Formats: sequence, structure tokens, C-alpha cells
Amino acid sequence: MEQTLCIIKPDAVKNSFVNKINSIIEDNKLIILKSKKIKISKEIAENFYFEHKEKPFFSELVDFMTSDYSVVQILQGENAVANYRKLMGATNPDEATEGTLREKFAESLSKNAVHGSDSLESAQREIDIMSKIFD
Ligand code: CMP
Repeated sequence: MEQTLCIIKPDAVKNSFVNKINSIIEDNKLIILKSKKIKISKEIAENFYFEHKEKPFFSELVDFMTSDYSVVQILQGENAVANYRKLMGATNPDEATEGTLREKFAESLSKNAVHGSDSLESAQREIDIMSKIFD
């Protein structure tokens, strides 16, 4: 059974969307295997988003992700990576299909409510990085 890493970002936590998002996740045959509400550290955020290190929005991204509480989760199910990506919708909520999590709950490209691993390889890497927070 596949696993993927999900983050409910600070904007969605602040807007009290966690239960609504998780209810939709569970309705889509994904099991929430682990879930923890934490303030992500700068060290973890920089490592987690390492692939974006050279992008102009990197510092904005790290600042936002460490600004307040997030809910970090491991989801499990058949084709969990692709299923959850589809459920999230496009990164930019203006481009997200109707009914997707980002279309429903995101505020903007940076405050886009949720993160999900983009491949099986990323999922393994991201779960490894976050595993220490579940201990
Ligand atoms: P996420 O799926 O968490 O992966 C990387 C994040 O970077 C992405 O969601 C967006 O929130 C953010 N992002 C991508 N492009 C931009 C951009 N041009 N400006 C600000 N943030 C961005």
C-alpha cells in the first residue's frame, strides 16, 4: 500500500479547515496513518523544500511554513501519491479544478492550504524527513 506526505499548511489551520480537509481525504479512500500539529522548524522546512532552494520564492516559502502551526500527516491507500495530488488540485488555486482542496480552501499560490508529495520518491524522502516529529 502506498504512502504519501500531506501538510495542512498554516493558512488552512488558522482558517479552521483541518477537519473539513481530513473528512474529504477520508472520503477519498485515504487513511490518515499519522497526524501531528506542529510548528515546523526552519531546519526541517529548508531541508523539506531543498529542491526550491534557488527559486526566488524560497525564503517566502520557508518563512510562511514556519510562521505558525501546520498539521503534518502520512496518508496511506492505493495510488496514494497520485490520488492525493488529484484531490489537492493545481498548486495555484486560481488554476485548481472545482471541488479540489486548493480550489475550496487555498488563499493564494503561497498560502495554498495543502502540500502533497509529487512522486513516490519524494514521498519516501518527505516521510523520512518528517518521521522524527512523530516519535
Ligand atoms: P507546495 O506543494 O507546498 O510546494 C512548493 C510550494 O512553493 C508550493 O506548494 C507553493 O505554495 C509555493 N510556490 C510555488 N511557486 C511559488 C511562487 N511563484 N511564489 C510563491 N510561492 C510559490
